[in-house]
Amino acid sequence: MARFATVAVTGAAGMLGQEVCVAVPEWATVVALTRADGDLSVAAEARDAVGGAEPDIVVHCAAYTDVDGATRDPESARRGNAVATRNVARACDELGARLLFVSTDYVFDGASDRPCVESTEPSPINAYGRTKLAAEAQAARVGSHMIVRTQWLFGPGGRNFVEAILNAARVGKSLRVVQNEHGHPTYTPDLAAGLWRLLETPEQGIVHLTNSDACTRLQLARAALDEAGLGDTEVAGIDSAEWPSPTRRPLHAVLESERLDTLGVAPMRHWSEALTDYVAILRRRWTAEQPPASS
Ligand SMILES: NC(=O)c1ccc[n+]([C@@H]2O[C@H](COP(=O)([O-])OP(=O)(O)OC[C@H]3O[C@@H](n4cnc5c(N)ncnc54)[C@H](OP(=O)(O)O)[C@@H]3O)[C@@H](O)[C@H]2O)c1
Repeated sequence: MARFATVAVTGAAGMLGQEVCVAVPEWATVVALTRADGDLSVAAEARDAVGGAEPDIVVHCAAYTDVDGATRDPESARRGNAVATRNVARACDELGARLLFVSTDYVFDGASDRPCVESTEPSPINAYGRTKLAAEAQAARVGSHMIVRTQWLFGPGGRNFVEAILNAARVGKSLRVVQNEHGHPTYTPDLAAGLWRLLETPEQGIVHLTNSDACTRLQLARAALDEAGLGDTEVAGIDSAEWPSPTRRPLHAVLESERLDTLGVAPMRHWSEALTDYVAILRRRWTAEQPPASS
């Protein structure tokens, strides 16, 4: 790690990128890069955007993240993930910058009951996962790189599963939620802090980083509803095959780390503690959205 470093953050307007730009440690100055600074899937635009920041480190959060969109239009996903990451990686090589690339549990098939650790062989089962794995290969070509896989993100800066469940419940919808998909819910402010902590180590290669403990989508939905005071909402558990989606999803791609201990990075807190913080933010938003009471 440079003593003082300029850190370019791609996807800085996205759910995770926003948090990475907030939790900046003393040793770093952030240059936030959004789509307005360039389309990273276009080589010249990526070189100009990343190069213009003159970074020592690039935290590459930008990605094509629409999972069903990737199934319908794999070429757009390839450009947004594999091609964009190739372009960012080339810029890093030209600048001698370190690259931290954010990846996903979707690189795994989730077919085994065993957790997926860093040494587990990836085997994606859908277009999104294949394009993120191809992007990992591009990131791994950079002399100094770290690939951080995470899963089930939720946080104040973007659309996510928890917010979708609560919004549906608030307008009185009854819910159908998948009960056979397992993962680690991960709170974007916690993840952002973890990414910065990882950058303080000299480590390379793949690291899995999530909030602690796993659950099913149904358990996460129920916990969020309880936390929000909407525990009376009718929720039916369904199998993933019943969910109307063109995409096959990994059902047991539960990320665990066999590296964090040795890196000296503390495990992140339990997802339910993070959920409490997140729902408190949403409740404040809901209150602010309500028209003021007439006196
Ligand atoms: N969300 C999850 O549950 C989850 C789980 C595991 C891993 N991840 C990974 O975590 C990272 C952050 O995810 P997120 O949920 O924060 O994503 P997000 O909210 O969709 O943000 C991605 C950002 O990247 C930008 N972007 C996409 N393609 C671009 C391009 N070609 N050029 C410039 N900017 C581009 C998007 O801009 P536009 O809005 O203009 O397209 C958006 O601001 C991604 O690498 C994702 O694969 C996410």
